[in-house]
Amino acid sequence: MTKNNINSSDKLDVSIVLPTYNEAQNIPLMVPKICNVLNKAKIKGEVIVVDDNSPDKTGDVAQKLAAKYPVQVIVRKNERGLATAVLAGFRKSKATVCVVMDADGSHPVDTLPDMITPILENQYEATIGTRYIEGGATDNWPLIRRIISKTAGFITLGLTKMKDSTSGFMAIKRSKIENQKFQPIGWKIVLEIMVRVNPSFLEVPITFQDRQHGESKLSFKEQINYLRHLEKLYEFKYQTVVEFLRFCFVGLVGLVIDLSIIYLLKSFVGLNLLLCNIIGFSVALTNNYFMNRHWSFVHGKQAHLVRGFLAFFLVCILGLLARLGVVYTLQEHTFLGAKDSFLIISFIGILVASVFNFVGSKIAVFKGSAV
Ligand code: GDD
Ligand code: MN
Repeated sequence: MTKNNINSSDKLDVSIVLPTYNEAQNIPLMVPKICNVLNKAKIKGEVIVVDDNSPDKTGDVAQKLAAKYPVQVIVRKNERGLATAVLAGFRKSKATVCVVMDADGSHPVDTLPDMITPILENQYEATIGTRYIEGGATDNWPLIRRIISKTAGFITLGLTKMKDSTSGFMAIKRSKIENQKFQPIGWKIVLEIMVRVNPSFLEVPITFQDRQHGESKLSFKEQINYLRHLEKLYEFKYQTVVEFLRFCFVGLVGLVIDLSIIYLLKSFVGLNLLLCNIIGFSVALTNNYFMNRHWSFVHGKQAHLVRGFLAFFLVCILGLLARLGVVYTLQEHTFLGAKDSFLIISFIGILVASVFNFVGSKIAVFKGSAV
């Protein structure tokens, strides 16, 4: 791989994207190693370093390497974040395959041909460097880090079939991501791509090595971001289910508000019980409307504030009628009525009303504009 590969007219096979933050010591080791391995495997490639204006001047170091090696450097002055850095690198690429790997030597450079070739040969659309399959490993990890890593993987089980969804080492056919919209929060760009694009993929065993220089930037804040990101991805994959669960949760919150208000107004103000109920119902309904609009429904905020409220109110009233209908029917026309199971009957009524309200809210209130 020679320097002029970057500008040569024939297409590059691969862009290796290295996101960096304070990796000035590591990058001069990584780049020659990568070039050497690719050269040997006769893969035409380049390195794209995406640095977030590191205080240790990683960007300058990378720029110097560009004199000798096929390296492009992006320095982002106003943005910070691993996943978006990687996306910036991918956008810069014009190669057939894009790779993301850590710049600190944790992901084995020698594995690159095994990661890239299956995609160049059109056998798979993506490959993932994996610690948790036969042949993979982690170097000297303390128990606690293993547990955290396994837990982080476990909670992605509903999203992906990857055995190691947090390894961070991936190669992907660029055409699969070219015109896609991604919305990663935080670090997990691999998960983001795998869930939203759903490419065919091969897992390649790797041994994850500890970094030699510098320190990890994986902070507590990033771990919280990880959970927020997962919520978004679950929402993407199972939109209606997630909306329904949130809707039910909001319903419970509303119930607590409703009962609390009745209790307060009755015991401390001495209002008439029916009036207490009307006020409790109205406050709970308003609360539920706003929570559903802002949180439960993915397109909730597109609803017109006032018209949406009226529609929600109407749906809830119809839901109440449906509930009364169910309760009446069960009581009059089934054996449940004879057995005086009024709580069971009412509970079924509430369930039916919840489903009715959910469907009504989704279809008539928070439908969002067609996409
Ligand atoms: N541009 C940019 N901006 N790069 C960043 C940023 C950022 O804000 N934060 C981290 N990086 C770069 C680092 O310089 C490094 O090249 C890579 O992203 C990974 O960061 P580390 O700080 O080395 O993270 P880690 O070793 O704790 O975590 C790695 O291993 C985990 C598996 O245990 C990452 O690969 C994780 O994705 C992975 O889950
Ligand atoms: Mn690392």
